[in-house]
Amino acid sequence: MVLGIGNDITEVARIQRLYEKNGITFLFTILSQDEISMAEKRNGKGRAEFIAGRWAAKEALGKALGTGLGGNCSPSEITIRNNDAGAPEVHVTGRTASYLTERGIGKIWISISHEKEYAIATVLLES
Ligand SMILES: CC(C)(COP(=O)(O)OP(=O)(O)OC[C@H]1O[C@@H](n2cnc3c(N)ncnc32)[C@H](O)[C@@H]1OP(=O)(O)O)[C@@H](O)C(=O)NCCC(=O)NCCS
Repeated sequence: MVLGIGNDITEVARIQRLYEKNGITFLFTILSQDEISMAEKRNGKGRAEFIAGRWAAKEALGKALGTGLGGNCSPSEITIRNNDAGAPEVHVTGRTASYLTERGIGKIWISISHEKEYAIATVLLES
């Protein structure tokens, strides 16, 4: 059963500005440790696009839940990894994982796309 759907669009330049201003501190607030390592392997604009894509994905998840991020759903406890085919997959830990279980969410479907200016993501929640 479908339990929720959410999407988000993020401006890459805005993410770039926040990253240039706040550096790693900014990354800690929106990425998991694994994602920070993934971001650090990308250079220049590619890094900003990657971060914007992850941020759009997490915002989309917050919308699909209907509660947004924060509280029970912490961005640092969400890791979006690419499988062998490159497709993104969501992995959650800690309090966020418990919350999704409490909400009866068994599967998170996700799609991400990014261009020079914007990143977008869609999330579908299934029981
Ligand atoms: C995979 C593909 C659809 C990505 O589209 P694109 O226009 O190049 O790039 P977009 O910005 O729209 O999308 C990039 C995002 O697509 C997602 N993606 C990559 N491969 C994917 C796949 N196989 N399935 C679903 N989503 C995928 C990733 O989340 C990626 O962003 P990330 O690397 O930051 O996580 C495109 O490169 C393609 O069709 N490639 C040829 C076929 C191919 O390589 N297939 C995958 C191997 S079977």
